[in-house]
Amino acid sequence: MATVTYETATRMFPGATRPAVSRLDLTIEDGEFLVLVGPSGCGKSTSLRMLAGLEFVNGGRILIGDRDVTRLAPKERDIAMVFQNYALYPHMTVAENMGFALKMAGVPKQERDRRVQEAARLLDMEDLLGRKPAAMSGGQRQRVAMGRAIVREPQVFLMDEPLSNLDAKLRVSTRTQIAALQARLGITTVYVTHDQVEAMTMGDRVAVLKDGILQQVDTPLRLYQVPANVFVAGFIGSPAMNLFPVDLVAEGGRLGETVLPVSPEILAAAHARGLDQATYGVRPESFRLADGQGLPVTVTVVEALGSDAFVYGTIAGAENGRIVVARVDPRRPPRKGDTVHLMPTTDEAYLFDPETGERLFSL
Ligand SMILES: Nc1ncnc2c1ncn2[C@@H]1O[C@H](COP(=O)(O)OP(=O)(O)OP(=O)(O)O)[C@@H](O)[C@H]1O
Ligand SMILES: [Mg+2]
Repeated sequence: MATVTYETATRMFPGATRPAVSRLDLTIEDGEFLVLVGPSGCGKSTSLRMLAGLEFVNGGRILIGDRDVTRLAPKERDIAMVFQNYALYPHMTVAENMGFALKMAGVPKQERDRRVQEAARLLDMEDLLGRKPAAMSGGQRQRVAMGRAIVREPQVFLMDEPLSNLDAKLRVSTRTQIAALQARLGITTVYVTHDQVEAMTMGDRVAVLKDGILQQVDTPLRLYQVPANVFVAGFIGSPAMNLFPVDLVAEGGRLGETVLPVSPEILAAAHARGLDQATYGVRPESFRLADGQGLPVTVTVVEALGSDAFVYGTIAGAENGRIVVARVDPRRPPRKGDTVHLMPTTDEAYLFDPETGERLFSL
């Protein structure tokens, strides 16, 4: 087992105008499950491939434990990787697929068999060892791909969107299995996904990337509650945080006719920066229905999920039809076409600097 450290690690592709990964500083603890998340093209796979030794590192270094691996070949790094396209050898059985890399590495048969048996037991696949991939479900094949990584007994697991070939339901059950397995094995794991729900449910900590730049690394709950900036605030959470441009006034942020409340400490922080305007953030669950005061919203869609209900609407009277989403009492949701008044809970509202996107917090 080992820690993983990126030290101002940079990858600049030939001919590119900016780095795909820019001065990444990140330390992953021994045994930790760290998720790299962000939109398409933000540099997740590149970061992982730099650690794997599949991508040249133009600047900075990468350490596994206290070993500088920046210039080492992939096979010298003691890692195992699970890809999105985990092509299995179709003519080999599950056991042969799992043991193949060990065979290539010259591991004796008895030792190979022991490790394959052990992995199959962990993955609950002992009955399937004699099957060929064609005769298995997508989820089972995915577990064989995990098995291939486990038998290597590496110091670090690297996974790049390993669930993206599975249907929605299977993704949910498989992500739970992977997280449980990782916790049991205690092997340091770096897991890439573009799916923020996957990131939040699986990661001990989550690192959010945008345009090759690390935005924040934190526990799922802290990312949700104290996002460093407007990007993280909007990316983490489903439905997403509502974000409105507001004019700052003595009592809060003015949007159209409505003044949205802001805590005095955060307003003071905005004034200390000399801001007249800001981006106002409020999560769907931080709205309450208020009689005649608050943001007037014409309901366009009601999503009643049973345990929850979300209403989507546009601000009544506003010209540009900005969409607002709020969580409401699932037993008494409003109806499509209704006009409701939504009031943010003052101490759950956020302000962000309109230029830099940074969250303003009590000084
Ligand atoms: N071999 C390459 N040559 C040139 N540019 C590349 C290469 N691989 C990736 N890039 C660029 O580097 C950036 C980061 O790509 P990367 O594959 O790391 O994104 P990602 O976050 O994994 O995205 P996705 O979610 O779509 O898989 C992108 O702008 C991409 O176009
Ligand atoms: Mg990728």
